[in-house]
Amino acid sequence: MTEYQHITADSAVHRDGTIKLHGPDGFAGMRKAGALAASILDELTTRVVPCVTTGELDDFVRGMMLDGGAVPATLGYRGYTHSCCTSINHVVCHGIPADKRLKDGDIVNIDVTPLLDGWHGDTSRMYFAGDPPLKAKKLVEVTHECLMIGIAQVRDGARLGDIGAAIQKHAEQHRYGVVRDFCGHGLGRLFHDAPEVVHAARAGTGPELKAGMFMTIEPMINLGRAHVKLLNDGWTAVTRDKSLSAQFEHSIGITEDGVEIFTKSAKGLDKPPY
Ligand code: MF3
Ligand code: CO
Ligand code: CO
Repeated sequence: MTEYQHITADSAVHRDGTIKLHGPDGFAGMRKAGALAASILDELTTRVVPCVTTGELDDFVRGMMLDGGAVPATLGYRGYTHSCCTSINHVVCHGIPADKRLKDGDIVNIDVTPLLDGWHGDTSRMYFAGDPPLKAKKLVEVTHECLMIGIAQVRDGARLGDIGAAIQKHAEQHRYGVVRDFCGHGLGRLFHDAPEVVHAARAGTGPELKAGMFMTIEPMINLGRAHVKLLNDGWTAVTRDKSLSAQFEHSIGITEDGVEIFTKSAKGLDKPPY
């Protein structure tokens, strides 16, 4: 089987293990879905404060998606019943919105995926509730650097492993743990598709990156060790050692001469403090 294929109307929605190569229509669709996703994360910057519940934030996210003509891709996804993920402190990812109130000093990741006109815009950022400790702020800063350093590797002709290699090197320079249990992923008309974008890898390995590929990069970086465990709810992933964890995610497309970030903030609200 070839590693990649130019999509057709039918192949765009099939998970057959190949990496899809999209044309101008795909870029236009992802640009719109990504812009809506980014604008939702922008609006959350003033709403993530001590005493708000993650359930209230989830309601706000769902409202903005519906107002924008989208639906939350997570709603009903493999039995998930919420419109975003809210991952607080030692929660690595897939935290479930609930009645729990944020408290001063929490760090929280909010991950949104509007499905707009058939295209998925998948992105997350970290937020500070009040004033977290310096070591938490530093973890968040370096995790954002990891995302952007990963994206900086992306160009036609590079290898998939170059992304993870650069992220791993930067995180480990700071003695942080890179989570192995969850990856970035291809996306487009599908939410999760090939390839798996691992965040710890060897440079020069893996499939060649080509113009027209869409994928997320979404490193999860732990203040302590890399190991993760899943809570009994079947979704919430936490650090085994209870250390803090941070994550940022962008959806990107590979162009002839570089990379387009579909989910960049139009307001420059890329990372806290906002
Ligand atoms: N948005 C997540 C990702 O980055 C996936 C969340 S799936 C859910 O891939 F069901 F947990 F919401
Ligand atoms: Co994702
Ligand atoms: Co996501």
